[in-house]
Amino acid sequence: MATMEKNIIPVREGDFNLADYEKTAKDFKWEDAEREFDWYTTGKVNIAHEAVDRHADSYRKNKVALYYRDANRSEAYTYDQMKRMTNKAANVLKANSTLEKGDRLFIFMPRSPELYFALLGGLKLGTIVGPLFEAFMEGAVYDRLDDSEAKAIITTPELLDRVPADRLPKLEKIFVVGENVEETDKIVDFNKRMKEASHHFETVWLDKEDGSVLHYTSGSTGRPKGVMHVQYAMVQQLQTARWVLDLKEEDIYWCTADPGWVTGTAYGIFGPMLNGATSLILGGRFRTEDWYQAIEDYGVTVWYSAPTAFRMLMGAGNALINEYDLSTLRHVLSVGEPLNPEVVKWGLEVFDRRIHDTWWMTETGGHMICNYGSMPIKPGSMGKAVPGIEAAIVDDRGNVLPPNSMGNLALRKGWPAMMRKIWNNLEKYDSYFIGDWYVSGDSAYMDEDGYFWFQGRVDDVIMTSGERVGPFEVESKLLEHPAIVEAGVIGKPDPVRGEIIKAFVALHEGYEPTDELKEDIRQFVKKGLAAHAAPREIEFKDKLPKTRSGKIMRRVLKAWELDLPTGDLSTMED
Ligand code: PRX
Repeated sequence: MATMEKNIIPVREGDFNLADYEKTAKDFKWEDAEREFDWYTTGKVNIAHEAVDRHADSYRKNKVALYYRDANRSEAYTYDQMKRMTNKAANVLKANSTLEKGDRLFIFMPRSPELYFALLGGLKLGTIVGPLFEAFMEGAVYDRLDDSEAKAIITTPELLDRVPADRLPKLEKIFVVGENVEETDKIVDFNKRMKEASHHFETVWLDKEDGSVLHYTSGSTGRPKGVMHVQYAMVQQLQTARWVLDLKEEDIYWCTADPGWVTGTAYGIFGPMLNGATSLILGGRFRTEDWYQAIEDYGVTVWYSAPTAFRMLMGAGNALINEYDLSTLRHVLSVGEPLNPEVVKWGLEVFDRRIHDTWWMTETGGHMICNYGSMPIKPGSMGKAVPGIEAAIVDDRGNVLPPNSMGNLALRKGWPAMMRKIWNNLEKYDSYFIGDWYVSGDSAYMDEDGYFWFQGRVDDVIMTSGERVGPFEVESKLLEHPAIVEAGVIGKPDPVRGEIIKAFVALHEGYEPTDELKEDIRQFVKKGLAAHAAPREIEFKDKLPKTRSGKIMRRVLKAWELDLPTGDLSTMED
């Protein structure tokens, strides 16, 4: 198999504290990382305590935990202030609901400091928090709250209409973060209550295996599934943030991911805060100029983003980069989709920095296969298994395959941040495992040096702009459109977004296949599900390829689209 040995990018002196790394990584066991936490001596577990209060009660008291900036706000919060604000949030939640340990609390709002207070406050109260990306529309919000029987949600006045409270009998309270919110039996004015609340709060102590975060994510079949993480994930998040993100005391760290996705919680909140680092949070939409300006203004040193973002920056041209001082950047990382070698090359050219690819999933809860500062990078490879993680390529029966064979990318189960259940769906959870192996759904191969090379998804899951979309969810929504009788959805390769969503639809009698109808269908999905789930391309077909049992054959659609052989068609109807 063609590895790109000749293009290896060596370790750069000064990039990484190799001696430190080798000391901790040698014979490393996850238990070694436990000692740092307060619970190791007190026996009292709570991830928000370890991320916030532990530092607020130390020499880091007046160190900035969060810088926040968007078009209207520019704020900074020290660890001490974070402790007070998260205590206030916990008090507001507790005083205005029956929320208690283990209850599900959703957070559905764009990035703002309040999102972080609420999320960490909810954790201090012992609830399991479910962050929702702000683009979700009513149907998507309903599915997630209904499945998890959420007791409360925190949202904004702009998003309130998308919370179908009347259809969610278990939903007791809606906390609204806005100005002069009109309170009712159900609605609580979050900001007003925050002002009145005490900044003292008795953190609710938990067990290491109690739930912390519930992230809904998509597979190729069925509704989105609730991936539950536990408190103990903190062990891996602390240690990998140190090794992989290379966080040090003086760093200014910027993770561009929204907390609605796992990167935005595991490495947008926990990884940095468990290490007592300083993070930048940038609100608002992506704009090239704003991003470069933020790096310059805050002196960002460690930057964690995604291939689509890098490709968009690339597309904006290199001339722009010269207008900003980006010289503080020390360590740059990427996640979520294949990182093309061209992008790595661009990073070297324009930032004079290596871009370190990292591979993991919502289900893994933390870094699994990565390029870290102390290793040579092979552009196009995701890197090697991090210490404490055993990764392999296995066949469909769980046999480990030799180097350079393509197969299922699998991980030996039992790492700290691994999901502990799929909410309400034991069967689905079990389906991930073959014996001791967690099977990721990605195909890959490993070379002789232990570097993993991503080849594709085994299933039909779509990764568009780094966001994971299940074709089934989009197809179900399409079928609700009055004109559509059949729908099949695939990921179509795209030079900027990795993949875009393409829908093939067949129409009911009497509907004309027009451009207006395409636009109407696109808007229908956008409004009913989410903007990022709306098909960018729609193609009308008289009929879609189906199995005899009526299942749409996405693989045939994909083959048509890509001009590839369609393979075995023996199960296809007529
Ligand atoms: O297909 C892989 C892709 O993203 C999937 C996981 O998506 P999600 O759960 O949303 O988590 C994304 C961020 C942690 C994987 O099964 N993926 C993730 N990282 C990479 C990747 N594909 C290629 N290269 C990566 N570095």
